[in-house]
Amino acid sequence: MKMLKIAVLVSGNGTNLQAIIDSIENRKLDGEVVCVLSDNENANGLNRGRKHDIPSEYVRNSDMKEALDKYSPDIIVLAGYLSILTEDVIKSYRGRILNIHPSLIPKYCGKGFYGIKVHEAVINNNEIESGATVHLVDEGIDTGEILIQEHVEVFPDDTPLDLQKRVLKIEHKILIEGIKLLRRKI
Ligand code: GRF
Repeated sequence: MKMLKIAVLVSGNGTNLQAIIDSIENRKLDGEVVCVLSDNENANGLNRGRKHDIPSEYVRNSDMKEALDKYSPDIIVLAGYLSILTEDVIKSYRGRILNIHPSLIPKYCGKGFYGIKVHEAVINNNEIESGATVHLVDEGIDTGEILIQEHVEVFPDDTPLDLQKRVLKIEHKILIEGIKLLRRKI
């Protein structure tokens, strides 16, 4: 099977990127991260890419299509990427862009629901469960076809950070499963 060429877009710490890199290095995922691109020049995710000799660069969101095309990826993974992809990227890579979101979409998603804000809202609403979702990216925010979801319990004494940690573990797991599902679809 042809090696799957994966472009990963990050804006922050990059633990989801790290999960992809580790899975490839542990032979749990057959693929190659061809680039790590970020709209945040200080993103720790860029350092993670560089540590593994992966081309890692700051790219303005408006220049993302040109930057991606240089690497001709088979799929694009938004791993904590906070900008909204431009039309031209969605059009060129439709059906081949994945996003990982830290809630059970359609709950707690869309404009303003990202990072710790998601977990704060879940706890403020006294939810007894939360989770993570891997979905295809379309023109909307967190609205594309859902590929995989997994639930976690929310405990009464959870802080948003406790919940974020528990959900992040699930994110790292289902993101790899989502990449494998997408590979079979394209
Ligand atoms: C994760 O919570 C992810 O679900 C959300 O942004 C965060 C990124 O974390 N999209 P990291 O940068 O992968 O550690």
